[in-house]
Amino acid sequence: MARPELSHGVTRSARPRRMLPGLVVTCFALFVSVPGAFAAEPIKIGALLPYSGVFAALGVEIADALDLGFDTFGREVGGREIVVIREDTEGKPNVGLSKAKKLVLRDGVEFLVGPVSSAVAGALRDYVHASQVPLIIANAGNNHLTGESCSPYVIRVSFSNAQINRDMGSWMVSKGFKRVFLMAADYAAGRQMMEAFRTSFVAAGGTVAGEEYAPLSTKDFGPYLGKLKAARPEAAYVFFPGAAAMAFVPQYEGFGLKETIQLAGAGWLSSAFNIERQGAAAAGFIGALNYVPSIDSPENIAFQEAFRARFGRVGSEFAVQGYDSARLIVEALKLTGGSTEGITEAMHQVSFVGPRGELRIDPLTNNVIQDIYVFETRSVGERIEQVVIDRFADVRDPPNGCRL
Ligand code: PHB
Repeated sequence: MARPELSHGVTRSARPRRMLPGLVVTCFALFVSVPGAFAAEPIKIGALLPYSGVFAALGVEIADALDLGFDTFGREVGGREIVVIREDTEGKPNVGLSKAKKLVLRDGVEFLVGPVSSAVAGALRDYVHASQVPLIIANAGNNHLTGESCSPYVIRVSFSNAQINRDMGSWMVSKGFKRVFLMAADYAAGRQMMEAFRTSFVAAGGTVAGEEYAPLSTKDFGPYLGKLKAARPEAAYVFFPGAAAMAFVPQYEGFGLKETIQLAGAGWLSSAFNIERQGAAAAGFIGALNYVPSIDSPENIAFQEAFRARFGRVGSEFAVQGYDSARLIVEALKLTGGSTEGITEAMHQVSFVGPRGELRIDPLTNNVIQDIYVFETRSVGERIEQVVIDRFADVRDPPNGCRL
């Protein structure tokens, strides 16, 4: 009712009086919504991880440790507060991509941290490259993202699939295992890990006795274990992650294979994460990984104490990757004064000793350079533990076609 009347009745002299209340309201709103009047915008970070599906527990572990990392290394850089927004990839490539777009376009995040799955990482690559929002990979090992499909906007703190497994082929031959059966989850990560192992294994004189790839969702490994048994290898070299790893280890024992065929593989099969629940079935497993909780260093002891105090459990390799992601972001932002401008170059300058040892980002590939630990799962008194039996120092990937 009032509107038409006012607009019709407006004269030149009346106009300023009409605008005044609006101006006051706007100024007041600005004042209350920006505490400290001109405080800088927060730095929003998208924790793009699986919080449901087969990788759910891994995603929660990384996100929890990312929060712990920001609380430890800095919640504010250059006067800007760091705010983390969680989005669930469900471990699915299409969901991961649409959540990445939501985080960038709707929430305005300046970094993405994640994902867990190599398949999801593959789906994110082109969008991240085009949008120029840095993706800090906190798990997914997909070789291509720091190889032929590398990008200045993809920086990996975790590992590449080849980096974990490459040296294990010749290592197994050197320990007398010359006939080995390969078994892995049937997707990018499983295929890439087995390929890396095979290359050095065959070059060192080993023979592949057979190989099987099972869907990530497999719960009954019976048919695959039957084929393994029939091939009569000296060892099995295996990669299963998440819930599949949890199921595989007791079934391997239940099938009567544990005593006759050495179980070895990418260390996630008997991760710190599920070792307690796997119990004695996991004893004797030989694995390769970028971290085990038993590393005896002041940095690792401090990390484990802080993680246990906050979450009441042992911090796994996934936790360390989240924690180190936070540290890399904070250290690099300190170098750029809180801006993402030049962040990749800043990340190349950062190096630190974290829970897993010394860590730096390779300027040739943007993949992490780190030690890889060979461990044996052993019963130590009442406890079951990953005991380090060997170490490959300062492992870095060849560029594999990457030109940054
Ligand atoms: C991967 O998909 O790259 C992946 C997932 C879980 C792991 C390791 C690698 O534990």
